[in-house]
Amino acid sequence: MNSITQSLNHSMQEELFKRLVSHCKEYGFIYPSSEVYDGLGGVYDYGPMGAELKNNIKEYWWKAMVQLHENIVGLDSAIFMHPKIWKASGHVDAFNDPLIDNKDSKKRYRADQLIEGEIDKLEAKIEKEVEKARKKFDNFDEALFRGTNPRVVDWAQRADAIAKRLANAMKVNDMADLKALIEELEIADPDTGSRNWTEVRQFNLMFSTQMSNIAGEEGKLYLRPETAQGIFVNFLNVQKTTRQKVPFGIAQIGKAFRNEIVARQFIFRMREFEQMEMQYFIRPGSEMDWYQYWKEKRMAWHRAVTPAQKLRFKDHDNLAHYANAAVDVQFEFPFGFKELEGIHSRTDFDLGNHQALSGKKMQYFDPELNEAYVPYVVETSVGVDRMFLAVLSNALVDETVPDAQGEDSTRTVLRMAPALAPVKCAILPLKANNDELVGKAKAIFSQLKFHFKCQYDDTAGIGKLYRRQDAIGTPYCLTIDFETLENDTVTIRERDSMKQERVPVSRVAEIVRERTDMTRLLEMLA
Ligand code: GAP
Repeated sequence: MNSITQSLNHSMQEELFKRLVSHCKEYGFIYPSSEVYDGLGGVYDYGPMGAELKNNIKEYWWKAMVQLHENIVGLDSAIFMHPKIWKASGHVDAFNDPLIDNKDSKKRYRADQLIEGEIDKLEAKIEKEVEKARKKFDNFDEALFRGTNPRVVDWAQRADAIAKRLANAMKVNDMADLKALIEELEIADPDTGSRNWTEVRQFNLMFSTQMSNIAGEEGKLYLRPETAQGIFVNFLNVQKTTRQKVPFGIAQIGKAFRNEIVARQFIFRMREFEQMEMQYFIRPGSEMDWYQYWKEKRMAWHRAVTPAQKLRFKDHDNLAHYANAAVDVQFEFPFGFKELEGIHSRTDFDLGNHQALSGKKMQYFDPELNEAYVPYVVETSVGVDRMFLAVLSNALVDETVPDAQGEDSTRTVLRMAPALAPVKCAILPLKANNDELVGKAKAIFSQLKFHFKCQYDDTAGIGKLYRRQDAIGTPYCLTIDFETLENDTVTIRERDSMKQERVPVSRVAEIVRERTDMTRLLEMLA
């Protein structure tokens, strides 16, 4: 078996990533947006299978938050909000990325990402050296090797020094030092090799538009760059109407927009994307306990659908303008470990600023303490699209099929958690030209469609139909054959093992529901 995200060398990983992208297009998961006009950078459309998978991911998150916690409630706030919200939140002044242009290629880059690329290169060298040594020595002591091998120690120190200088320059907004670092490290345009750079300058990532009935700055609206602010400004509305007591949470799923300087890597970094965010309102001073609690909860949510070795925590070196502690849940994408989710301790930064700028109290009266305060907030924020990419890149597997020959000897299968699969059950007549088989298959489809998402298909031979369902991750296929007509039984084929069992038609709904229902995933979080 050959998992798409196994540790492979760079060019192989690139190849596999390309295959993932083409698989998404071929099987109706994701299309480039506006493709007939040659696409639009950093924007994608989800096809029929993609829409189903995306909805299942959102359902998994929503139920894990809102259904499993009595003290977490949902919200669906508007994308457009009063422009002062973005002033108070700090996004107008501080939601910037450092931009650098190459004068020869006219290409635009994020200065911090160019520098991070150098750190990645040093880390890749270290990993290669460690792997080499692991193969060479019996009883290999990795920690000792990392701590004493002169080359590894040197690369690690260099990577650390660059990371610290980068973090400091970002923290104090020292764009000149970012430029100096790019020059000292002799970083070249990755596409052309040119080192002819402009100065580094800050670029604000918010998209803006104009309200029709208010002229000038006053009517300038922003497309929200995070869903969180809709939660903050509704905090008291929700608290009062639901009678929640601190600690309590508000969860929201919705679109966010960022004018990313470099929108690459498919749906990893988009200009229009979706977030699943939860703000947990707590007593001031309790934030580190809740931060720890949500770190563990969120990691458990990911682990229920993703192998533990592909997930890790990474503390932020460079805290966002609103956070006093922050960690990423990283996933091993085909292009390396990258941020999948952010968990942030946002203190009273947002509520405090909204209180100051709006002049409206953002306080909660705590009946147990008999005092009013502006609550602190711990936030969990995961991108739907990134989660989608993580699920797919973990699931996509090419494998040889034992005892099969010719075309049937290999298959591509999406081994994803059955509860997330776009289609739960395919109904396949053995022969498309037999009216009785087709009629029976359609009758079974009509029964099962009330229970879960089914697909009827009679457009190819049974072997090909199985392969198609494997490629979209369908956990169960039913074959309607001549025995079905005699005794009302079908074969049910399981995606991963390809094992087939004969079962009465009357039991199929129960079997498939029991094995594919979201309840199974949610129970793992208890
Ligand atoms: N409210 C906090 C916040 O927005 P963030 O770390 O900037 O924090 C949270 O974003 C999550 O949103 C990220 O972990 C990622 O999954 C997703 N995300 C952010 N920018 C994205 C982009 N340009 N494209 C796709 N997903 C993105």
